Amino acid sequence: MKRVFSGIKPTGHLTLGNYLGAMRRWSAVDQHEADALFCVVDLHALTVDHDPGRVRRLSRQAATLLLATGLDPQLCTVFVQSHVDEHARLSYLLECVATDGEMRRMIQYKEKAAAERARGGSVRLSLLTYPVLMAADILAYGTDEVPVGDDQTQHVELTRDVAVRFNQRYGRTFVVPRTTHPEVAARVMNLQDPTSKMGKSDDVGPGVVYLLDEPEAVRKKIMRAVTDSGSEVVHDREARPGVSNLLEILAACEGGNPNDLAGVYETYGSLKKDTAEAVVEFLRPVQQRHKELCADPAYVEGVLREGAEKAREMARPRVDAAYRAIGLLPAG
Ligand code: AMP
Ligand code: TRP
Repeated sequence: MKRVFSGIKPTGHLTLGNYLGAMRRWSAVDQHEADALFCVVDLHALTVDHDPGRVRRLSRQAATLLLATGLDPQLCTVFVQSHVDEHARLSYLLECVATDGEMRRMIQYKEKAAAERARGGSVRLSLLTYPVLMAADILAYGTDEVPVGDDQTQHVELTRDVAVRFNQRYGRTFVVPRTTHPEVAARVMNLQDPTSKMGKSDDVGPGVVYLLDEPEAVRKKIMRAVTDSGSEVVHDREARPGVSNLLEILAACEGGNPNDLAGVYETYGSLKKDTAEAVVEFLRPVQQRHKELCADPAYVEGVLREGAEKAREMARPRVDAAYRAIGLLPAG
């Protein structure tokens, strides 16, 4: 059976972008078809200025939401990254395989480092080495497929390069993984600025739909989405980014294809209205289940404890093998 691994950072409240770009496939497809692991990657949340209490709360919330979207601990493994030492242990070895130049070429690093400097802050070293930790997350489990949104493609490419290099130098140790993206909505855009990604660490903006937003808030945000000049409803990401984003969101929630849906609508107003209702209905069962799970924190804790135990057992032999292959003396 193929192995699937993916992760989500507790750096903000989870968004519709996270759901449509990644999480939806995890529960609908991956957990049924693969031996799948889904991880709240909390170590990655420490790469930028952070508040310890908030990271802790968001980690718990992300895990609860993963279960609320339908991940079933009988079918897959749900856990928190920092509960499994093998990630950090392997990350160091991969730092000895990846290069400084490769790290500095990462788009996400360049963007986030520039933003941090513009704010007058300093850039944490871990922001630079982040992709290596992500590679360790993936490679520790012999992962075949990594289901992620569009923005993670470059990081998975780097993971492949590092795996191939390690295998060539030290003997075959790692599986070389590939990325999978959803057919639509691999990159959900900010409703107020449809040329940039809907990101959860953005300001609590009117352009970001959060999974736990009340129906009224969802409606308001979508009805106020920035659309393009012109009035024709067409799917063209370059020329009409605003309308195209709405068509993709609608297609992702209702099924269907954004090009076909474009033909159904005469006005932006009716497209917005239907998109708003589709998103509200789409989120309703997730929010309901989230509420139930919040009433039973011991259940969520139990899932995470067992998940970490399972993950540890899966990762340890491969990480131990990597330690031996690279030339470190076994402890005996
Ligand atoms: P992150 O929020 O960066 O931890 O991302 C978790 C997962 O959600 C990754 O697979 C991302 O590619 C995906 N993702 C995040 N934002 C979006 C978005 N706006 N559109 C599509 N996928 C996204
Ligand atoms: N870097 C990913 C993001 O920002 C999160 C992540 C960390 C991840 N480790 C991973 C995703 C391993 C897939 C597999 O979204």
